[in-house]
Amino acid sequence: MTAVLEVTDIRKSFGGITAVDGVSFDVREGEILGLIGPNGCGKSTLFNCILGQLIPTGGEVKVDGRVVTGLRPSELNRLGVSRTFQLLQVFPKLSVRENLILAGQEHQGSMVSRLFGPSDAGLTEAADRMIGFFELDHLASETAGSLSYGQQKLLDAAMAFMGGPRLVLLDEPAGGVNLSMLADLRERLAAINREKRATFVVIEHNMEFVMSLCSRVMVMAEGRVLAMGTPDEVRDNPAVIEAYLGH
Ligand SMILES: Nc1ncnc2c1ncn2[C@@H]1O[C@H](COP(=O)(O)OP(=O)(O)O)[C@@H](O)[C@H]1O
Ligand SMILES: [Mg+2]
Repeated sequence: MTAVLEVTDIRKSFGGITAVDGVSFDVREGEILGLIGPNGCGKSTLFNCILGQLIPTGGEVKVDGRVVTGLRPSELNRLGVSRTFQLLQVFPKLSVRENLILAGQEHQGSMVSRLFGPSDAGLTEAADRMIGFFELDHLASETAGSLSYGQQKLLDAAMAFMGGPRLVLLDEPAGGVNLSMLADLRERLAAINREKRATFVVIEHNMEFVMSLCSRVMVMAEGRVLAMGTPDEVRDNPAVIEAYLGH
């Protein structure tokens, strides 16, 4: 299977702290890779290095075989790479539909492609398709700030899919979300992976969510990869059990 994302020996230090300490892995086309590990082990920093929010201290990132290390987030967007952040990125005063349209404009990138790309009418249609897909129809005209936290997280995830990305990195999409919204989100992510062949990496603390959604799981501890394998392999790995339960 082709690797959509290849990460080789990524490192990131902040002053004296090494947040990511030589991480290598790849993500295959169409898979959902889970990323778990204790708070502060470097998961978000790794995402930021892959997506151009941070310049890594060392290492290389390839998307579809092309070196993209150090490219800006907007340039990665144009290559079909998208993300969500650990903290919500929705605009509370705009409606659900407007948030999605704005995300679509962002994914289209430069003014030139905006001028010559699909019209805003096209974006509204794309937003409405996404609203339907994420079952947000009844909330389409509500302001994002009036939604429940779980609904806002669902909207935030939907926004990452507006450009029809090949690869989406989701940083705790289910963080702080109640159980029924969690099931909704898992079901929507599984469906979008199946129907649109989108490839994901998902950081999430809820084990049940990760184990039931992901084809493989990577476990990080203290900036390094502790284990990588199927959910069953990872669950039975003594080093993982030790890291989570061994205190
Ligand atoms: N911008 C930053 N400046 C300094 N230290 C940071 C910065 N971002 C993250 N860190 C540190 O890097 C380590 C990893 O953090 P992070 O990647 O957010 O972990 P995780 O997402 O796994 O909880 C932590 O020790 C954190 O304090
Ligand atoms: Mg984090």
